[in-house]
Amino acid sequence: METIKLVYPVEGGDMIEAGEASSKMKLTLKKLGLPQDVIRRASICMYEGEINMVIHADGGEAEVEVDMDRIVLRMTDTGPGIPDVEQAMQEGYSTAGPTARELGFGAGMGLPNMKRYSDEMTIETEVGKGTVVTVVIKIPQ
Ligand SMILES: Nc1ncnc2c1ncn2[C@@H]1O[C@H](COP(=O)(O)OP(=O)(O)O)[C@@H](O)[C@H]1O
Ligand SMILES: [Mg+2]
Repeated sequence: METIKLVYPVEGGDMIEAGEASSKMKLTLKKLGLPQDVIRRASICMYEGEINMVIHADGGEAEVEVDMDRIVLRMTDTGPGIPDVEQAMQEGYSTAGPTARELGFGAGMGLPNMKRYSDEMTIETEVGKGTVVTVVIKIPQ
């Protein structure tokens, strides 16, 4: 299988449409015939990353690379950045505002769940510049 690359723009400020990129990616991964557990874990990671870009960074872009043995999700934004990544990774820690919370976001479980459901996760971030979250999901052979 050749490497497949997908790119999804994620609109900022649209908490109602949030989740669209992960739904679209899920459909494509199903069509590729990938294992169900791999699709489920990739979709959770994509959903959480997408929501974070919407509620914390005014949108961004999600790139998906599917290889024989792994899926790489790269979520890039030019938002405020994360001042303390270790703190942000704590379960329950959230800086979500009241509007996001009214819509049910802000449980502070997004980053911890991305860590849990991926095989590798890295966060590159700079305050005032933006954030790149990369997760790798291995495809069992
Ligand atoms: N892309 C991002 N840009 C800026 N801050 C982020 C981003 N993603 C996460 N964060 C910060 O990390 C915190 C924890 O994220 P997360 O675990 O997904 O919880 P939640 O989204 O429910 O707040 C967020 O509240 C926010 O402060
Ligand atoms: Mg989140």
